[in-house]
Amino acid sequence: MADKTLTLKNNGNGKSTELRLISGTEGPDVMDISSLYREMGIFTYDPVFVATASCHSSITYIDGDEGILRYRGYPIEQLARSSNFLEVAYLLLYGELPSESQFNEFQEIIRYHTMIKETLKSFFDGFHYDAHPMGIMVGVVGSLSAFYHDSLDIHNPRHREISAHRMIAKMPTIAAASYKHNIGEPFMYPRNDLDYCGNFLHMMFATPCEDYEPDPIAVKAMNLLFILHADHEQNASNSTVRLSGSSQANPFACIAAGIASLWGPAHGGANEAVLNMLQEIGDVSQIDKYIAKAKDKDDSFRLMGFGHRVYKNFDPRATIIREVCHEVLEKLADSNNPMFELARRLEEVALEDDYFVERKLYPNVDFYSGIIYRALGIRNNMFTVMFAIARTVGWVAHWMEMMSDPEQRIGRPRQIYTGAGERDYVPFSKR
Ligand code: SDX
Repeated sequence: MADKTLTLKNNGNGKSTELRLISGTEGPDVMDISSLYREMGIFTYDPVFVATASCHSSITYIDGDEGILRYRGYPIEQLARSSNFLEVAYLLLYGELPSESQFNEFQEIIRYHTMIKETLKSFFDGFHYDAHPMGIMVGVVGSLSAFYHDSLDIHNPRHREISAHRMIAKMPTIAAASYKHNIGEPFMYPRNDLDYCGNFLHMMFATPCEDYEPDPIAVKAMNLLFILHADHEQNASNSTVRLSGSSQANPFACIAAGIASLWGPAHGGANEAVLNMLQEIGDVSQIDKYIAKAKDKDDSFRLMGFGHRVYKNFDPRATIIREVCHEVLEKLADSNNPMFELARRLEEVALEDDYFVERKLYPNVDFYSGIIYRALGIRNNMFTVMFAIARTVGWVAHWMEMMSDPEQRIGRPRQIYTGAGERDYVPFSKR
């Protein structure tokens, strides 16, 4: 089929050029502007890349208007209902659902990479006991490249795959160790008789003093939350990983950069900010006051867990999490948990308010997830760590896709220069 093109004409100097339109399997066409500067002497301007495709990708598809999220073509609702996190990890990494034997082999590979080097444990002692676990994660994950010289040739596909497996396997161990350091308890080694989520809960909540068996309801809730957080197209942290990887940095350094980006309260840090916000609001009688603060342009307060860069309708993950939240609270905590009631009521009030409706500010994935994490006994400062464990799968899947994409080279955005024109240096005596 003949290429679709777009004619661009500069009315100022009469110059024009034909730009190729490229269609994906889903979503809007993209205009290939790679020849624009050569043909027209101009750049494009898209300050935070909200209208710019940075790559081809076949991993995740989002339609923000329709509230669609699919991993490798499978709707998130079906994966949430029928799959488990490690199977979703396989799907995101390799593009297809595994056969039973492929899944069992993958599960064994991940299982036998969950331990971290014994000397790495002393790294945690360098942090003050009350260091934020996300700060510990950034440091410890970034240091992993110092241990794995056997798999740092990023041009070797087998090395890339081993590094991806190591990252997915070790994130729960590092996360749980960050938590244990925080609360002054001894680290717990992984257990090979437990599945991925059960093992994580064991490393978080078991102690050497007594046997611990993870609650099946908690394991099911953990699987669901990890599936929903596993990937989300070219979000801020994923784009950070891709741009870091484009300079051929090692994968552990790239994932550490992604963790740092995810930490921001406008991104993955929102789940912790939501619970802190609910605790600040206190009870339903204060809701109107805080809704007014969120709408006041002179007040920096925002309704955390509301709004999204892409979803301008509902976030399908929020819908799924809200349903599970109620179920988990009923079984694991008090179903009329004041936080859940406050969150539910806050959502109702906000969604009746024109300010939020006009700006399409709906609850996002972070609005309810923190309430479930609390019901599972996880502290607020660990919520974004939960997000990072799950999103590591998306980050490594995109890193592997980028590293094998012939189009990808070192990333290098341009700018509009608005600074001073050329001028001569002036000595002190003449300033
Ligand atoms: C995640 O990209 C991804 O996919 C991210 C993520 C993923 O899975 O990777 O989905 C995860 O990061 C979810 C988002 C979590 N963040 C929060 O919940 C923080 C609170 N939300 C806001 O910071 C904000 O909504 C963003 C950052 C999420 C989105 O911001 P946008 O799309 O840039 O919206 P905007 O800043 O252009 O705001 C549009 C208007 C503005 O008002 P006006 O100037 O038009 O009068 O809406 C207002 C904003 O002031 N607004 C809010 C608001 N969010 C936007 N007002 C009050 N409370 C809010 N939460």
